[in-house]
Amino acid sequence: MPRIIRTRVAIVGAGPAGLLLSHLLADAGIESIVLDRRSRTEIESTIRAGILEQETVRVLDESGASDRVLTVGNRHDGIELRFNGEGHRIDFPELVGRSVWLYPQHEVLKDLIAARLAAGQDVLFETEVTGVGDVETDRPWVTATTSDDEELRIEAEFVVGADGSRSVVRPAVTGSSAGGHFREYPFAWFGILCEAPPSSDELIYSNSPDGFALISQRSATIQRMYFQCDPDADPNALSEAEIWNALQARVPGTSLATGPIVQRDVLRFRSFVAHELRHGRAVLVGDAAHTVPPTGAKGMNLAVADVVLLDRALRALLLENDTRLIDAFAETALKRIWKAQHFSWWMTSMLHTASDATEFDRRRQVGELRSVVESEAGRTFLAEAYTGWPHEGGAS
Ligand code: PHB
Repeated sequence: MPRIIRTRVAIVGAGPAGLLLSHLLADAGIESIVLDRRSRTEIESTIRAGILEQETVRVLDESGASDRVLTVGNRHDGIELRFNGEGHRIDFPELVGRSVWLYPQHEVLKDLIAARLAAGQDVLFETEVTGVGDVETDRPWVTATTSDDEELRIEAEFVVGADGSRSVVRPAVTGSSAGGHFREYPFAWFGILCEAPPSSDELIYSNSPDGFALISQRSATIQRMYFQCDPDADPNALSEAEIWNALQARVPGTSLATGPIVQRDVLRFRSFVAHELRHGRAVLVGDAAHTVPPTGAKGMNLAVADVVLLDRALRALLLENDTRLIDAFAETALKRIWKAQHFSWWMTSMLHTASDATEFDRRRQVGELRSVVESEAGRTFLAEAYTGWPHEGGAS
């Protein structure tokens, strides 16, 4: 017989979406359980992207989920778009009165896990979900197996799939694990972490005939950089010298500060939006609901926007028996999701070089980049999307 656990909200996935939701619900006195098949160490050490929109930072700070985001994170007031070897700065405060923060996702996760555990939250790490059911009733359940083979049955009033792109909750919502709109890209990013001083104060997104590169940072001594590669590239096939040559060739005009490469990975690109975000008393948020290519830095920010919306809807449903916000959840969330899908696709296609690109394609792309940087309307469009649109119903 499984051990029965009763809670109000069963949250599958201890990533940014699941942990933040649990934190916000607790503030309203709504109890939840968070489970994840990964260990705490794995969650806290997986390297992910690092740009937080101003609204994301505000939610993390004001809810008490992370105060380090403002003290350890770095505010960035712009990015550089580089093409034809020339840099063009997009000044965020001047254009839209907002900024972004560079604060790596695994640091957000460390803060959220610490905050949840300090508040006495049940976070079940290394616990694998084996089933989700009765989502069409008001007593949905999740079954799971813990790391020491204990069988659990979690009886809840709502189930949330915040369990990433390989979501196990998704079939209970969409009817199949793949059910969604998606698009693949013919390129990926070769990412490195290296021990070196920053090569630039702000992020450089560089389009070059050899392909795209992104120069990002982590700290005074650790840097994060990416360059466009084949989706099937083997991260271990290149020597450090070859990696530095590839990066340097893609950012003409900047002399990169080099150093030992301490981590390397290949990130494949995919755009995905699930056909359904909600079925009865189960919803999908974050990467379980949608994935975006990393060029627009939207992934975690979109997850936070979903959760802000879902938190309000669950408060109304579970505290006041008001179904209006949960009934509107998918439609409202999808408006932002598709804007972010467009922005991520646009940044990706504008900056990368397809291997079958013709001379026409190359010149058209430079024409597009020029249209953006030489027009205040163009720069403002980019700055608005990059720094993030206001949250639905929230302060702008
Ligand atoms: C990163 O620093 O990892 C990063 C920054 C901006 C992006 C993607 C990744 O668009």
